[in-house]
Amino acid sequence: MLPSQALLPAVLFALAALRALASDTFLAAVYEHAVILPHATQEPVPASDALALMNRNMDVLEGAIKEAAQQGAHIIVTPEDGIYGWRFTRESIYPYLEDVPDPAVNWIPCTDPSRFGPAPVQERLSCMARNNSIYVVANIGDKKLCDSSDPSCPKDGRYQYNTDVVFDAQGKLVARYHKYNLFLGENQFNYPKEPEAVTFETPFGKFGIFTCFDILFYEPAVVLVSKMQVDTVLFPTAWMNVLPFLTAIEFHSAWAMGMGVNVLAANTHNTSMEMTGSGIYAPTGARAYSYNMKTEDGHLLIAELDAHPRLSPASPPAVSWNSYALSVERFSQNGHEFTGIIFEDPFTFTELTKPGGNVTVCQKDLCCHLSYKMAEKRDDEVYVLGAFDGLHVFEGQYYLQICTLLKCPSTNLSTCGQPVETAQTKFDMFSLSGTFGTSYIFPEVLYSGVQLAPGEFEVLADGRLINRNTTSKPVLSVTLFGRWYEKDPPSMDQASA
Ligand SMILES: *[C@@H]1O[C@H](CO)[C@@H](O)[C@H](O)[C@H]1NC(C)=O
Ligand SMILES: *[C@@H]1O[C@H](CO)[C@@H](O)[C@H](O)[C@H]1NC(C)=O
Ligand SMILES: *[C@@H]1O[C@H](CO)[C@@H](O)[C@H](O)[C@H]1NC(C)=O
Ligand SMILES: *[C@@H]1O[C@H](CO)[C@@H](O)[C@H](O)[C@H]1NC(C)=O
Ligand SMILES: *[C@@H]1O[C@H](CO)[C@@H](O)[C@H](O)[C@H]1NC(C)=O
Repeated sequence: MLPSQALLPAVLFALAALRALASDTFLAAVYEHAVILPHATQEPVPASDALALMNRNMDVLEGAIKEAAQQGAHIIVTPEDGIYGWRFTRESIYPYLEDVPDPAVNWIPCTDPSRFGPAPVQERLSCMARNNSIYVVANIGDKKLCDSSDPSCPKDGRYQYNTDVVFDAQGKLVARYHKYNLFLGENQFNYPKEPEAVTFETPFGKFGIFTCFDILFYEPAVVLVSKMQVDTVLFPTAWMNVLPFLTAIEFHSAWAMGMGVNVLAANTHNTSMEMTGSGIYAPTGARAYSYNMKTEDGHLLIAELDAHPRLSPASPPAVSWNSYALSVERFSQNGHEFTGIIFEDPFTFTELTKPGGNVTVCQKDLCCHLSYKMAEKRDDEVYVLGAFDGLHVFEGQYYLQICTLLKCPSTNLSTCGQPVETAQTKFDMFSLSGTFGTSYIFPEVLYSGVQLAPGEFEVLADGRLINRNTTSKPVLSVTLFGRWYEKDPPSMDQASA
């Protein structure tokens, strides 16, 4: 008998095992957490009170982590500020901070808790990961003591950082990221001196991590994707929704599509702060998401993702964002143009007066072309095509180029651009494109009730954002949200100096 034949099953088995080790897919979880907030106070509380509050939040997170692990999830992301909340001064957050070491030290806090001094929060997170054999991603506060030998040491003798941590399935600290683009009013924290591009490898792909406001800027978010080639971005956030373009589910899913990566976005949940919207986003659309302005509950999402979305056959083609728009003549105008304000930015609008047609609107160097057909033109609803090309200066400065088809809150044209959450008009067809000067474009489609439209639209290689079929729900907005990073003013680190 030939030995090779006898060996064949064993060889096949070994191959299968190897393939399973380097998985094609994995199960991801995100938990939207209704954070239990500390009492608003200027005075620092005793460390034991701070830990008690953080343990109450970690009790809730532990339930979600256990549930996710039982359902087979490999990794779970929890939100920014999810353990200690907000409303802090620099002094009052201090009792909540721990020294988070560089992951290069090779540390499992669960089995060696006091190696770097007291670290009860890291110990508990590490044990939750280890006990449940799941990667755990959380957001905590890091403190680093400094003295006058460091000329930029703050006068209270310490740096304080908004920090993401990742523990692997053995409980080992594998990533530490200090938030680079702090949001306005985050005065309890320091800016890190340099942006950190933090990545780590797993059997289910290469991961990168950043937080909240970071997603609007080049460093480190775009660097992680274009230079470090991560497959999946971990995104703890405390995101306040702003219609029509910057609701959490809408913008975060659009970033995943525009950048061609998976994004695991875990938001905090607080309806009075407009904080809701978490999701598991693939480049082709949301695999799972939640948006809940009705109750104050947390919510666990679990979904399967490709470990290497760029290698997937379903992966969208490389897009030349302005090639269609530059190739066509300006469509005829169908009426007068007017200015409307969105999030403090002056857009040029034109009304879609007919049930269908071809319309162009321009602002500065940006011309936006729309071909469309409404399922029915209603008298009680107004839609406009809008263009904006300029520096956004409200709550942060960043250069935008935006083409948008959107519903106005009323038939009064002066309301166009103001937030609206419901609509009645479905579209049989839309095709939106623009003469963009940047290649960083994030495609958004938002339906009535602030719902996403996964699988119902796509971007063609020539840059047209088109629907695949009559929209299954009425349309709030269809948008190409462009970021032109080179035109941003000097970066945040200089502002902090
Ligand atoms: C982890 O498991 C150990 C031993 O079973 C237990 O003592 C500990 O409380 C668990 N910790 C967490 C955070 O689950
Ligand atoms: C939501 O946040 C606000 C502002 O910080 C706070 O006053 C309120 O108590 C929070 N709501 C809940 C349900 O925790
Ligand atoms: C819009 O343009 C397309 C081709 O560019 C043309 O086929 C179509 O008839 C036009 N629609 C209207 C309503 O003008
Ligand atoms: C139209 O809307 C604007 C802005 O909301 C408002 O100031 C104006 O009074 C409205 N006009 C009418 C006729 O309702
Ligand atoms: C488009 O929608 C129609 C009506 O809802 C449906 O019958 C058809 O199967 C859909 N086509 C595709 C390709 O989804």
